Amino acid sequence: MEITQVLRNSTLFGNLDTEVLAVVAGQLAPLYYGADELIFREGDLADCYFLIALGDVVLTKGSGIAQREICHLGAGSGFGEMGLVSDEPRSVTVCATVDTRLYRLNRDGFDALIDSEPYFARNVLHLLSGRLRSSDEVASQVLLRAHQGLIMSLSQLAESRDKETGGHLQRVRDYCVLLAKLMARHPLFEAEIDDHFIEALYHVSPLHDIGKVGIRDEVLLKPGKLTEQEYTEMKCHAEIGSRSLETVMQYCQLDMFRVAQNIVRSHHERYDGTGYPDGLTGNAIPLEARIMSLADVYDALRSRRPYKEPMGHEKAMQILLAGTNAAFDPQILPIMMENAAEFARIHDQYDGATGSPE
Ligand SMILES: [Fe+2]
Ligand SMILES: [Fe+2]
Repeated sequence: MEITQVLRNSTLFGNLDTEVLAVVAGQLAPLYYGADELIFREGDLADCYFLIALGDVVLTKGSGIAQREICHLGAGSGFGEMGLVSDEPRSVTVCATVDTRLYRLNRDGFDALIDSEPYFARNVLHLLSGRLRSSDEVASQVLLRAHQGLIMSLSQLAESRDKETGGHLQRVRDYCVLLAKLMARHPLFEAEIDDHFIEALYHVSPLHDIGKVGIRDEVLLKPGKLTEQEYTEMKCHAEIGSRSLETVMQYCQLDMFRVAQNIVRSHHERYDGTGYPDGLTGNAIPLEARIMSLADVYDALRSRRPYKEPMGHEKAMQILLAGTNAAFDPQILPIMMENAAEFARIHDQYDGATGSPE
């Protein structure tokens, strides 16, 4: 392809006058790179701009296990403008992924165009703002996936100590999300519950008993009823879990982790203040923990345990109702009652190792 045609097809030079393009074409030096060949490395001196005539390059950041791909660029795209504009070293590493033909424009030629061609300067600005936006999006996606991965692996760790409750984590997650969605439509809670809150609940509710990893096997896995001392020990799981989430929060004050910590610490609080570990009363118990406590107790009632048979849906609901005002938020429970069949359906859907009385 003619060099001026390559310029015409490019985002940075495409709308410049023909005479200007001819001058630029005279300054371009052709270069060839084979597959996997390094073009420049992050931290290198930035002294030129590259325009891709043919082929494909990959931009990466970091090295070793921290290396992450930013994007691929093909014919008509260019790279290297960031270092020239900012007078900083290269911010990425660029490698050819296939046989690639480039044109190189040195710094003087690039700077002269910025000074003399308003269209070129505007194109560069446009390109830079686009790059900034997309690298922001990539970074937040990477971060979000890292957070979700962390939460998921912690949940699996919690579950690995408590295999007898098969299906419990999925069911509790679904009860919590269903309840929160129903509450979001209710005038009493619509201001407090938004999509972010519901998404956080979905991801972090399986963590509620993460602190059980710190409880001795003889207590955690005891087939019979716990003695008073063992029960006291078991109750420590709320604080043990809360401390591990606190450590996470020291590194990252993300809403999702705050919701997680509230659930982990306060899911055994009772509305009347007789719960643990803090004896919180009423609305002082975080909303996410009030939701979790209903979901957790409903599922526990309906599940087989070494010391008890599973209970039917109606009976479980009666017991929850009896606990209104004492254990559960009297404003949330009616919302659950009105939609009781949906909770029963979730239970039946995941009903596996826990068994069902019917
Ligand atoms: Fe618990
Ligand atoms: Fe639980």
